[in-house]
Amino acid sequence: MAICVFGSLNMDMAMGVVKLPLPGETVRSKNYELLAGGKGGNQAIAVARQNVPVQMVGRVGYDNYGNVLLDSMEKEGIGVDGIVMDTNATTGLAVIAVADTGENHIILSAGANGNMGLDDVERLKPLLPKCKYLMLQLEIPLKTATAAAKAAKEAGVKVILDPAPAQAIANEKLFGLVDIITPNQIEAGRLCGFPVMTPSDALSAAKAIQKRGIPEVVVTLGEHGSFCATADAAMAVPPYRVTALDTTACGDAFNGAMVAALYQGRSFFEACQWGNAAGALTAIRPGTQISIPHHFELEGFLSQHAAQTED
Ligand code: RIB
Repeated sequence: MAICVFGSLNMDMAMGVVKLPLPGETVRSKNYELLAGGKGGNQAIAVARQNVPVQMVGRVGYDNYGNVLLDSMEKEGIGVDGIVMDTNATTGLAVIAVADTGENHIILSAGANGNMGLDDVERLKPLLPKCKYLMLQLEIPLKTATAAAKAAKEAGVKVILDPAPAQAIANEKLFGLVDIITPNQIEAGRLCGFPVMTPSDALSAAKAIQKRGIPEVVVTLGEHGSFCATADAAMAVPPYRVTALDTTACGDAFNGAMVAALYQGRSFFEACQWGNAAGALTAIRPGTQISIPHHFELEGFLSQHAAQTED
């Protein structure tokens, strides 16, 4: 059995800046790098690095960047038969500014990811009988993500949705097909219509999302850890205190490590701890996919660091 990721693949142009620009402001970049990224690709790599088999379904352009992204997946042992090189589009591109504080701004040009459609869902279907979980994000058209979730449900595969980038999803059909949703604070706020800053806000958000039909909710709270809610219980999962250098892909690392831990039979709470640790380790290293931890690094980190209980 494997985990299947249906989603985006981007080339990331990452620039280091002292501080993020204000509207209308021009700032100088200290350096820039071209890196493999995209929320779908990052999550596939985060799972693969936990030694769990992964199949990726997605689209890149018929160009150099597309080749780079395919190579980055293959090198990690990820199944790439579900990735198409689209002759009608360029590869998705993300321009990322990373400030000295570790915070980022991302501007996304969807490219081939925007062409993800029912053909791609047809390529997903034969993989589903061999998959335990389907991971989705929203850098592809919402109706395609919904069709993929429907195919997974019909095949008895659990659906995990990372509702990123943030949007107010009016499509309740998708909500009825998702088993676990993993918004960050901004995404939870956008889904629920109120700010989500604290674990208590996260509880309100989780309840509001559960009412809309998703049984299990994990709200990631950055330096405050995460908050997980099932039908019977809700609890804060304490953070690991680190000094963030670059928070890009922390959410992807969280999702990949969490779903891999569930796949490996850990409890929901434990899986969120693994997710928190993966996010923390990713935050202390620069870059996108290169910063996502391997299983041995996570095991070592978890055995050496106690999570911090919030006051
Ligand atoms: O989550 C980080 C990712 O968001 C980057 O790799 C970038 O491609 C954007 O999709």
